[in-house]
Amino acid sequence: MGIGFGFECGDDAAIVDAPRRETRPMPENEEAPLVSGGFDYSDAWAARLELVREKIAAGETEARYLLAALERQERFFLLWTKPGMPPAWGPRPVEPDAETWPSGNGIWQATSLRGNLARVPSYAEFRIDLLLSDLAATYGPFDVIAELGCGYGRNLFKLYDANPDRQVRYVGGEYMASGIELAKEIASRHEAGARFNFCHFDHMQPDLSPIGQAQRAMIVTVHSIEQIHRLPRDYFHRLAQAAPEVIGVHVEPFGHQVDPALGPMTREQVKFAAERRWNSNMHNLARRAEADGAIAIDQISLDCFMPRDPFNASSLLVWHRR
Ligand SMILES: C[S@@+](CC[C@H](N)C(=O)[O-])C[C@H]1O[C@@H](n2cnc3c(N)ncnc32)[C@H](O)[C@@H]1O
Repeated sequence: MGIGFGFECGDDAAIVDAPRRETRPMPENEEAPLVSGGFDYSDAWAARLELVREKIAAGETEARYLLAALERQERFFLLWTKPGMPPAWGPRPVEPDAETWPSGNGIWQATSLRGNLARVPSYAEFRIDLLLSDLAATYGPFDVIAELGCGYGRNLFKLYDANPDRQVRYVGGEYMASGIELAKEIASRHEAGARFNFCHFDHMQPDLSPIGQAQRAMIVTVHSIEQIHRLPRDYFHRLAQAAPEVIGVHVEPFGHQVDPALGPMTREQVKFAAERRWNSNMHNLARRAEADGAIAIDQISLDCFMPRDPFNASSLLVWHRR
């Protein structure tokens, strides 16, 4: 696998996905600063791009095996950084007395379910690809399925693999150039006929023009709005304008905005989100867009995704354009 296995993860090391705050100028007519409060994913996606290029140089030609290699890497390693040094993969820490699989990985994984701390086997995984595939079947057919803040596009690739639909255009919008580059690298090795397009997108100034001509669009976000402390107040209005018929599907940690007392982990999540300046206004803005008649909310389900980080539990919001 080749990159940085010997890297030392001492006390002063940090996981690359550690928060680095970024402030942006206040737009006109906003009563408080509009800020993006999240991680800088540039290094995170660049390190994965390097890994994928190593696999390609070693002869790998298929997108699904490149994705599998990335997932395998993340089961065993985390990306660590130290001041003044480039990020490097280091072992995923296991508690000293933890029960482990023969591979050395912990058997139990902490998670949050309906606001409560739970432990599940570490190979248990929520299948977002299947959820998205079933939602696409329920509300579709769609001309376009777009993920905003898509990283390297793994949700779109997995959604396609769950139900290969060559009639659909899959559009990934991402803020970080390294994420777009990796997504394009993988897409270029996807099977012929699949229609993927990756481009720059910023939640702070949502431009939906890459969706192009479409009658019906499904717009998805997965743990990306979380990165934006305060979305622009017309965010959902703008998404709803992307096509004549639009369904929005958001898998985001906004449950604590709806019911901060859902359970003990939800109360922890309130603190976690505030400390990191993660999103604080998504639920209010969706309600405001509904009150304005721009969207109708179809479903909100709280902390139902079995996250790998129990402090960052995902909830589901589904809406449609009115
Ligand atoms: C936790 S990752 C999730 C990536 C992807 N949705 C997934 O599930 O694999 C958060 C993503 O949001 C992106 N992001 C951060 N700020 C953004 C912004 N202002 N506009 C669009 N995407 C942004 C990050 O670069 C990163 O790729």
